[in-house]
Amino acid sequence: MLRLIGNQFKKPTGLLGKIISILMIKGNGPDYDIMIPELDIKKNDRILEIGYGHGLGVNRISSSYDCFVSGIDFSELMFKEATKRNEEHIKQKKVELNFGNFLEVEIKPAQYDKVFCVHVIYFWNNLSEPFSKIRTGLKEGGVFCIFMANIDFINKKKFTKDGIFNKYSIDQVVTELKRAGFEDITYNTNNKGYIIKCRK
Ligand SMILES: C[S@@+](CC[C@H](N)C(=O)[O-])C[C@H]1O[C@@H](n2cnc3c(N)ncnc32)[C@H](O)[C@@H]1O
Repeated sequence: MLRLIGNQFKKPTGLLGKIISILMIKGNGPDYDIMIPELDIKKNDRILEIGYGHGLGVNRISSSYDCFVSGIDFSELMFKEATKRNEEHIKQKKVELNFGNFLEVEIKPAQYDKVFCVHVIYFWNNLSEPFSKIRTGLKEGGVFCIFMANIDFINKKKFTKDGIFNKYSIDQVVTELKRAGFEDITYNTNNKGYIIKCRK
């Protein structure tokens, strides 16, 4: 059962996925409150969210800033939910949501000013490939931001004890960002986790 729940956080499906989505909106909403100002969004920025889930973050950004937001998520359920939530802005071509696995799709070089992800990197078995792919997709000077829970917070959740979650330490993440070529790496922490910011 715990493995089933852990898998739902990785890729929500079906009725249980709908419940998990409600829990994520409630639990992770405050993490977006911290993430969005960190992006320092400017007029006409092109932004990518990896693992947008319910689409709340995309909606908050496109409702408050004059920019273009795209996203990719490999859960069909989340794709549908986020598409519904962002319907108006998709029609206005302010938002484009894609259904796919970020680890498998091609990324065109230098197309984004900002790339971010919230509670996603645990599901990547290595960080070097996704980080260099993100760097490729960023314009020169572009910003990459990550929100991740700290290991204590993750360990408090019983469904994370089955190998689905990669429990990266802040040092591991910073090392991999440096290895991928990112610069100006900084991070803030709160009782839940880290917001990490770096630049191409
Ligand atoms: C734990 S949920 C987080 C959702 C949302 N970002 C939040 O913080 O509430 C992880 C999300 O990332 C998506 N995801 C995980 N790995 C992915 C990948 N390789 N490519 C695309 N989406 C991915 C899942 O489908 C899921 O919607």
